[in-house]
Amino acid sequence: MELPVVEQEHLLGVPGPVGKDRLFARPQRGNHESVTNSGANGQGSTQVTKEFADLIPSANAPLIELQKVSKTYRMGTLEVKALQEIDLTIEHGEYVAIMGQSGSGKSTLMHILGCLDIPTSGIYRLGGIDVSKMGESELAEVRNRRIGFVFQQFHLLPRLPAWKNVELPLLYAGERDHAHRRQRAEEALASVGLSERATHRPTELSGGQQQRVAIARALVTNPSIVLADEPTGNLASTQADEIMGIFESLHTEGRTVVIITHEPDIATRAHRLVRIKDGLVIDDEALVK
Ligand SMILES: Nc1ncnc2c1ncn2[C@@H]1O[C@H](COP(=O)(O)OP(=O)(O)OP(=O)(O)O)[C@@H](O)[C@H]1O
Ligand SMILES: [Mg+2]
Repeated sequence: MELPVVEQEHLLGVPGPVGKDRLFARPQRGNHESVTNSGANGQGSTQVTKEFADLIPSANAPLIELQKVSKTYRMGTLEVKALQEIDLTIEHGEYVAIMGQSGSGKSTLMHILGCLDIPTSGIYRLGGIDVSKMGESELAEVRNRRIGFVFQQFHLLPRLPAWKNVELPLLYAGERDHAHRRQRAEEALASVGLSERATHRPTELSGGQQQRVAIARALVTNPSIVLADEPTGNLASTQADEIMGIFESLHTEGRTVVIITHEPDIATRAHRLVRIKDGLVIDDEALVK
């Protein structure tokens, strides 16, 4: 049984700050020039960095470059400056933790990095291309295939078995071959050690296993960037440890990994730690391993 797209979108929707922007939905924006870099199809390749370079032509540019990026939420007369002129550069293959207290702007930053939301002002370049100049199809492609998202609340569809949750991004990407989707979903589940739970529903899985299903879903399109917002926030420490082990191996494989957390133990496992406070970067340090 496949759910109608509307229901999938509803259940996969990102809660909170991005409002009605949806994980796989197109952003609400004005007209943009189309960039003619349709790129590789990303199927089955393990060369994640090269694959992303195919999509984004300026291979020598930093992967992620924020210049004076601000985000202001307006609610009636109230203005919340969630991000204030953030400058941040992240290179291909980095493993970065972003840390800060509740309300400091971490999720807002992740939504912008993941093209789920757009800055109020400032420039966001992804692979050297100003995101505001990307066409709708490139943005949808970037979000759906090039970036994997992992959230604190796993956002799994409760009525679907693990493998059907994992295949969803492929469905959104228009992959029509059912057998191929299932194979890719099972490979992704195997990569997080869950082969034996492919037919279990989320309620039949532990919290750590549910998060592993969510990571498999993030990986099924073989993205080169993985963005995780408090991925261990709902987990006990042993489960958190397993999940962090998976992120470490994603980094070792060459993916760019950005983890948002307010837990020091989690943050210091990354190779670089960026601290934000009141929407400002207050510290940015390499962590010696
Ligand atoms: N959609 C929104 N509308 C209005 N204000 C918002 C919205 N989303 C976030 N904010 C405000 O922006 C600021 C930053 O929020 P954000 O969710 O980015 O924080 P956070 O660092 O992720 O916090 P937490 O650790 O609690 O998840 C907060 O003051 C928050 O109240
Ligand atoms: Mg948050």
